[in-house]
Amino acid sequence: MKKIVLAYSGGLDTTCLIPWLKENYKADVVAYCALLGESEDVEELKNRAKQAGADDFHFKDLTEEFIEDYAFPALRVGAVYEDTYLLATALARPLIVKWQVKVAEETGADAVAHGCTGKGNDQVRFEVAAMTLNPKLKNLAPVREWEFTSRADELEYLKKKGLTIKDKGGGKYSIDRNIWGISVECGALEDPWTAPPRDTYIIVNPIEEAPDTAEEVIVEFEKGVPVKVNGEKLSPVDLVKKLNTIAGKHGVGRVDMVENRVVGIKSREVYEFPAARVLFNAIRALEALVLEKEFILNKRKLAMEYARLVYEGKWFSPLRESIQNFADTTANRLTGEVRVKLYKGNAVVTGTRSPYSMYVEELATYTDKDTFSHKDAEGFINLWGLPYKVWGSVKDDS
Ligand code: ARG
Repeated sequence: MKKIVLAYSGGLDTTCLIPWLKENYKADVVAYCALLGESEDVEELKNRAKQAGADDFHFKDLTEEFIEDYAFPALRVGAVYEDTYLLATALARPLIVKWQVKVAEETGADAVAHGCTGKGNDQVRFEVAAMTLNPKLKNLAPVREWEFTSRADELEYLKKKGLTIKDKGGGKYSIDRNIWGISVECGALEDPWTAPPRDTYIIVNPIEEAPDTAEEVIVEFEKGVPVKVNGEKLSPVDLVKKLNTIAGKHGVGRVDMVENRVVGIKSREVYEFPAARVLFNAIRALEALVLEKEFILNKRKLAMEYARLVYEGKWFSPLRESIQNFADTTANRLTGEVRVKLYKGNAVVTGTRSPYSMYVEELATYTDKDTFSHKDAEGFINLWGLPYKVWGSVKDDS
């Protein structure tokens, strides 16, 4: 092996991985860092990687691409894993890998590496994405096999190598954060009976601390893409940031769940995704107004499959893409406004309007404006119920 591109986060594991990979594979190590909406000090990351012995450092700000080509498409489909998780971590991995593979190709590397453990979903996502995008690249996952069993071991190793690197501390939880959402696990959360401690609240207020007065936001969509909040035109990234702040303040967008990981383990996770929660509720309401019944019904079923595919690391699969295309077939009609009331952890839709609305007041009304043909209902019901009339008339002796 000549060169390895390591997905570098700046944490202790991936910092330790730099000298470890160099020692164990006798290869050059390129530290590759991706930003997804977090305010990282890039210079500091670069210095840290260089201090640890990285031969090269590559940095990519993927925030915009993440929201536009990953988060919003999943939003248009309506993807929710196990009815609860809006997939922030899972959506980020394929994009991180996409650029990791590009860096590998540009720098003539023959392998990519990540710092995931053997117990999680992220290792699956990293490796499946990399093998789909460039099957020739070797996938390395040293944390699954290396000799260290604690942070102290890793610090000791760095010391032995003569590398003085500050331990930024591991924190009480394992946290993965991007602009679309935050995942919190481990620590006190490992006992599913323990209520999430106050310090697991990161951008969402606990309900008790949320304002006592409700706040309304109007979200405007154009062809399935959210474009305005309260009449103000915003870039996708700014729109998400804004909704994160407003909805987070009202305690909106937190879930606490026990989920099924790809590797068979059940794990207890807390997620925060205030903007995503508002946008999901809003687009679902808009959909109800403008799309026809059969399409909605089937879209919901496929959205479940789509969420599972994304969760399981199959973003770059033909089925994921096909479901995306299916959902996007009608996205041009997802144009309109949704009013959402934010109050004590809730994001309640209180109104929808659209130029493509299928809601016809003269059909729905119970007043004298009614144009619906009541008479037609009789024949319709006779035929609709016919199979059951026959079923009910057959003698059943069992
Ligand atoms: N369980 C979540 C997922 O699979 C979150 C994983 C979070 N990763 C982490 N390093 N804390 O998407």
